[in-house]
Parts: sequence; structure tokens; C-alpha cells
Amino acid sequence: MRRPFLAGNWKMNKTVPEAVALAKELVQAVANVADRDIVICPTFPCLAPVAEVVRGTNVKLGAQNMYFEDSGAYTGEISADMLISAGVEFVILGHSERREYFGETNQIVNKKLKKALEKGLGPIVCVGEKLVEREAGKAEAVVEDHVRGAFEGITASDALKVTIAYEPVWAIGTGKTATPDDANAMHAFIRTVLGSIYSADVAGKIRIQYGGSANDKNIDDLMKMPDIDGALVGGASLKADSFSRIVKFVS
Ligand code: PGA
Repeated sequence: MRRPFLAGNWKMNKTVPEAVALAKELVQAVANVADRDIVICPTFPCLAPVAEVVRGTNVKLGAQNMYFEDSGAYTGEISADMLISAGVEFVILGHSERREYFGETNQIVNKKLKKALEKGLGPIVCVGEKLVEREAGKAEAVVEDHVRGAFEGITASDALKVTIAYEPVWAIGTGKTATPDDANAMHAFIRTVLGSIYSADVAGKIRIQYGGSANDKNIDDLMKMPDIDGALVGGASLKADSFSRIVKFVS
């Protein structure tokens, strides 16, 4: 059985005091949840202060990005070791906003994934097609390309440590959720791709989150689907009441 994994991607929202306040509220709201992985991903300056809040609780800390080099002259970048030293255990890689606005390619995502695995961070690798690609009947081809590109040269034992987030770009922040059936179909397809890279056994163990306007209203239906193992939540993770309800989904 794959353990449900609910992650909040706060994107470029919340100042340090706001992030600390939200984390405190959330920690209280989900304190009695035992059978699910819960991760919040604030911005870089908020990581260390939020780490103080979540220490010793069932809420873990993730970052929204990292660089693939260890250190050096890379102005504006953040290394895996820096994240770990701030209390971070997970990292989102290859989010569609990184791909779209910051030029991240499959090759870059692959390098970042290798570095995150080398350092022991839990990677959440985002894949997903744009609306034009879906309308052109290319959704599966794009997603397969993202998956194969990210996992290039990654061993099966490392692949098991990775979570994939399927986030159709047209559903992110738009209020348009993929239907549970459509999302599940793509998750099943991703598992087929993973099966062809590794094995059916490995593919059956890798967790796949859905992302794209997931909220407290649609989470129960999404989580009823057999291949949906959790959610990567943007907008609805910015309030403790909605994100805690998502964490407490009923399937
Ligand atoms: P959204 O964002 O829930 O606001 O659509 C999801 C994401 O981009 O991770």
C-alpha cells in the first residue's frame, strides 16, 4: 500500500511572520493525523523559522527548488546541503512554473534529481502537459518525456525514493481540476512508463500526487482513485483550514 502524501506548495506567498503563523495553525489542525505524510513547502527565507515550528511534529518541511551544484559562484542559487541544514527533508523539482518562467529543462531537472537523491532529500518531481499539448492529443507524450527525462540514469532503488506530482498545467491555479478519472488515467499511464523503465513492482511502489486546483471540495473524490496517492496543493495550502481538510481527506 502506498502511504498518502499531501504536500502544500506555498509558491511565492507569505512573509516570514505569516509563514510561521500559518505553520503553527496547521501543526495544531493536523496533530492527530497519523497515517499520512504531510509536507509544507514555504519560500527559502521562511524555511529555517518554519522548521522550528514543525520540529517534532507530523508536518515535514520541503523546499520549492534547489540547485544541482554543491557550492560556489552561482549567485541566487541554493544547495541541497543548505536546505538540509535549515531542516528541510523534501524538495519540489521541475515545477511547471520553473519550466515555464525559469527555463528548466528535463536535463536540469534530472541533474537536480540526482543531487537531491545523493544528499538524501525526498524529491517531488513535477510533470504535466499544457493545454495546447492536451488539445493536440500530446498529453501522454509530453508526460512520458518529462518522466523519462527526469529519471534518466536513476537506479531503481533511488527511483523508489521519488514522488511524482502529475500537474496538468491548465489546471494549476485556474480552478479547473482534471476530473478524477482523467487524472487517474494519466497516473496509470505514468505507472506504465515507470514499469517500462524499471519494473511493475517498482512502478507500483512509487507515489504519484495529483496537482492542479486540488482543494478541500474535490480532494475526497480524487483520493478515491486507485492510482492517486496524494496531492501537491498550491492555493488551497495557504490556509490552515482548507489544507488541514485536504490532509484529512475521506476516501
Ligand atoms: P494550485 O497549484 O493548487 O494552486 O492549482 C498547484 C501547484 O502548482 O503545485
